[in-house]
Formats: sequence, structure tokens, C-alpha cells
Amino acid sequence: MTTARGQFSSKTGFILAAVGSAVGLGNIWGFPTQAASNGGAAFLLVYLAMAFVVAYPALMAELTLGRYARANVVTALSRLSAQAPLKRTGLVAGVAALGVAVLILSFYAIVTGWMLAEFITPAAQLLQFEALASWSRGQSFGRNALMCGVISVLTILIIARGVEQGIEAWSTRLMPTLIVILLGLIVYVFTQDGALDGLRAYLVPDLSRLSDPALILSAMGQAFFSLSLGVGVMLIYGSYLRDTDNLPRLGAAVTLLDTGFAFIAGLLILPAIYVAQAQGIEVFNSEGALIAGPDLIFQVLPALFERMGQAGIWLSLAFFALMSIAALTSAISLLEVPVSVAVERWGLRRPAAAALSGGVIFVISVSIIAQFEQLFSAVVTLTTVYAQPLLGVLLCLFAGWVLHRHQLLKELRKGHPEIESTLFWRIWPFYIRYICPTLIMAAFVQSLR
Ligand code: PHE
Repeated sequence: MTTARGQFSSKTGFILAAVGSAVGLGNIWGFPTQAASNGGAAFLLVYLAMAFVVAYPALMAELTLGRYARANVVTALSRLSAQAPLKRTGLVAGVAALGVAVLILSFYAIVTGWMLAEFITPAAQLLQFEALASWSRGQSFGRNALMCGVISVLTILIIARGVEQGIEAWSTRLMPTLIVILLGLIVYVFTQDGALDGLRAYLVPDLSRLSDPALILSAMGQAFFSLSLGVGVMLIYGSYLRDTDNLPRLGAAVTLLDTGFAFIAGLLILPAIYVAQAQGIEVFNSEGALIAGPDLIFQVLPALFERMGQAGIWLSLAFFALMSIAALTSAISLLEVPVSVAVERWGLRRPAAAALSGGVIFVISVSIIAQFEQLFSAVVTLTTVYAQPLLGVLLCLFAGWVLHRHQLLKELRKGHPEIESTLFWRIWPFYIRYICPTLIMAAFVQSLR
């Protein structure tokens, strides 16, 4: 491809974009509720260990592969080796990653659309557009399809503008906004009765859970999803890095920030659940477990906001703005996967590639909305439980076995001339060959049970 490829203009630009991808519904909604139902801080400790022990090395594999190949996931994997069988395997793995990114975005855009609808409801209430508020509150097909359509258009418009003007510029605007809203909400929730009980449930570890293999493995799965691994997102973002950038350090920053966000989101969600309980809202289900998943976000928290009167309307506005922004920056990273393939392999112009990929994904989303019961959770399970870990293993194997040690060293040395004398270099190449694939496979096998 002769056209100049996009590039992040600075380290900060890359970090904001990669953290924008990583921080999403998985952090703000998935992580806190998993922690709450799995021994509080015990889960947190194991999660932190997993993020650095398994997810960080796998992230480094994707970033290094991406910058080495300077190409989309399909092209990158299919031209690592000159041997035909490896080329073919790479092509298949790349196409699989592309398909999984498309499917993840198909359901992610639906959920992001729900968040947008929940954001529009309090906005319409404030403006006294009662009809709009009750429409956006209802779970109709029309509402869900329209909201998903709005998200698709926003995602397409951002991606059409390219790496620097689109991904980087919007992540740079949205991520600081996200932090401000998150911290503001935490401060408010802590002024309410019951918040400290939530903090206790979150931070006092039930150490007896530490040796539970199910906890260890689900923490690993969570870390993996949260860092956007296994679908070529981090690979394509890595391919837009400059040669002078220090990959291990950037990867570590992204991992730290992603886990930091998950931890801080826990400081909001857990106290909010216990504030809701103090207000008499049911927060445990009939089996005594904390209500998690969609019911937490779309029932428990809205019930809490409703009881808070006028303040609740503003809180709800802020909370769903937070959710929408977090999800949008993840959605754009997912759209970049097919767009980069369409631009680099088929020679399409970026705006056309964005419109085409986004359009196809929107059609899949609408089909999922239309057949929600049959399709939604099947697609979620297929992509996040099965495909992501398996592709994660493949990506580690490609970086560890198909690329030679000297090629890895040459690539990493570009931004870090002393890499050879670091602990990272002593451990990582061996690690992604053997340990990481084994650990990920262990999580995969566990998730099948
Ligand atoms: N990391 C995102 C989240 O936590 C989800 C995601 C997965 C984004 C895979 C891109 C690729 O919500």
C-alpha cells in the first residue's frame, strides 16, 4: 500500500486512544459487579495480578506485532512468515479476528444505544419533553434500532476522519470528560447513607476466596476483555505508533490506567448499590447474590436516581453520559479493525470504508435487536467467551514463535535501545511462547464448564 498510513501524533494521544478503547462497559459495569460477587478486594487483588501477569504480556504481543507489520490484523498476520502454511494460518486468524471485532461491535453498539437512550431520558425530563422521555425510557424496537443507528453514525463520523483527527482527537476530548464525571459522581455518592457499607463490601477482602480457581480464572477473563485483546484492536493501534515510541512502557501505562479505571469505577458502583439498599431498593436477588448485569444498570440504579428527585435527574444524566462516552471510545476502536482492512487491502478511501463497515455492522445490530432473545447472548458468548481467548492465544503464538527473537528485539529496540538489559526482555519472549498461551487456555477451558 503506497498511501501514507495514519499515525498517533504523540505518546499521550496513543495512550488516550488505547485507554479509550480499553475503558468501556467492561470496566464500569463488568468489573465492579464481578468484584462485589466474588469476595470484594480478593477479586481485585487477583484481577490486578492477572492484568499484569497475563493481559499485559498479551497486549505487548499485539502492540509489537502491529508496529512490526505496520498493517491491519489480516495483512499483519498473513505476512509474518514466508512459509505458505504459516501465511495461510495467519490469514485465517486475521480474518477470524476481523469477524469477531465486527460481531463484538454489533452487540456493543446496541448496548451503547441503550446507554444513550437512558441519557436522553433525563435530558428530556429537564427540558420538559415528557413524550420524548417516555419514548426513550420504553424498550421498543424502534427506540433500540434508532439509538444504535445514532451510535453507528457517530462512530463512522469519528473513524472517517482518520487516526489523528478522528480517533486521537476524540479520545483526547472524551477521556478527560469521562474522568471528571466519574470523580464527580463518586464524591456525590459518598455523601449518601450506605456508601460506606458499599466501600467495605468492595475493599475488605474475603481472603478465603483467594485460592478459588474459578475466581482466578474469571479475573483473568475480565482482564482480557477489558484490555480489548484478541480482536486486533491493540494490534492496529500499535501499528499507528512511531518507531521512537517505547512499547513496553506505553503498554504498561495502558494496563495501569485501564486497571486504575476499573478500580475507581468500583468506588462508584459498589457504594451506589448500597446507597440504593439504604433507600429500600432491592439489591440482592432471591438467591442472596447481588443483582448484577443489565438489571443493575437499568433497574437498581434508575430506581435509586428516581428516589433522589431533581438531583437524581442530574445524576442520571451524568451517569449515562459516563457510560455512553466510555462505550463510544471502545466502539470506535472496534470499527477501526474492519476499516483498516478495507483501506489497506481493498484500497477504499477511509470515509467510504467507514461508512461501508459501519453500515454492515448496523445491519447486523438491527438483526440482533429484531431476534434479541435468540441472538444477543449467543453473540456475546461466542465472541467474548470463546473467540477472544482463542485468538489471544494465537496472537501470543504468532509473536512468540512466528516472529524470531531477533525480529522482536529489533522492533522493541527502536524505541528502547537498552531493552536487552531489562527484566522485560529477559522474561517476555519466553513468556509469550509458553506461559501466556497456557494460562489463557486454562481460562478458556474453565469458561467452558
Ligand atoms: N475493552 C472494552 C470494555 O471494557 C471492550 C472491548 C473489547 C473493546 C474488545 C474493544 C475490543 O468495555
